[in-house]
Amino acid sequence: MKNTVATILEQKKRKDKITMLTAYDYSTAKLMDEAGVNSVLVGDSLGMVMLGYEDTLSVTMEDMIHHTAAVARGCKNALIVADMPFMSYQTSVYDAVCNAGRLMKEGRAQAVKLEGGEKICLQIKAIVESSIPVVAHIGLTPQSVNAFGGYKVQGKDEETARQLVKDAKAVEEAGAFAVVLECVPDKLAGLITESIHIPTIGIGAGAGCDGQVLVYQDMLSMYSTFKPKFVKCFANVGEMMTAAFKQYIEETKAGIFPGEVHGFRMADEIIEKLY
Ligand code: KIV
Repeated sequence: MKNTVATILEQKKRKDKITMLTAYDYSTAKLMDEAGVNSVLVGDSLGMVMLGYEDTLSVTMEDMIHHTAAVARGCKNALIVADMPFMSYQTSVYDAVCNAGRLMKEGRAQAVKLEGGEKICLQIKAIVESSIPVVAHIGLTPQSVNAFGGYKVQGKDEETARQLVKDAKAVEEAGAFAVVLECVPDKLAGLITESIHIPTIGIGAGAGCDGQVLVYQDMLSMYSTFKPKFVKCFANVGEMMTAAFKQYIEETKAGIFPGEVHGFRMADEIIEKLY
């Protein structure tokens, strides 16, 4: 079944947990889509896990469009959400609408995601009014890593917790159809989930959210640079890849690979003529 904004909203009502994973390329997106994930997020985390930057700030619109288009070619049923990169929407409402439009037209995204609460509601409203569905992202918003002074849990004291509740209500009011809660205490995420009508999708925000999202390299243990506390390893693919690469090197050097079954045949009388 094709996942749409409407089916995602329905899932909250039915208390059917929404599943979202990040993907950045055709093959991985296709595997996730075939596995039945509800939504694929082309996160700007691609800056770190695919491009090797130390944070997400250097990711460009061109990077996002390139990777979103690859993911879109791999997905039949998952709803494709593309991140708006740093400074593609903060600068003005006009920039926000133009860049959201590019992710839809050139990247074939079906929704866009923006980081921020009350402060970016004008952008959310204008994008939604242009018929582009929006996912908001509050809590630990990685594009603000320098303002936060690191990747820290958000909303632990009364003032910041109240602000996060206000942010969640504000993005709902502005027209977002879902909101990602990142690194927020479980109980606060549960309270936010009960306080709004749109689905919450948690990452490091506990089981009380309407859905979950993970970066796929994290859940497959493929990214060793940084491992957040909230990540569960569902398969040790990183180790499997290293073992396979080592075996390939050994077998190639030993002449075991390629074997006869991996080669192509030709008639002996033809090859004999060439000697
Ligand atoms: O960029 C990303 O992958 C994200 C998720 C962590 C939600 O925004």
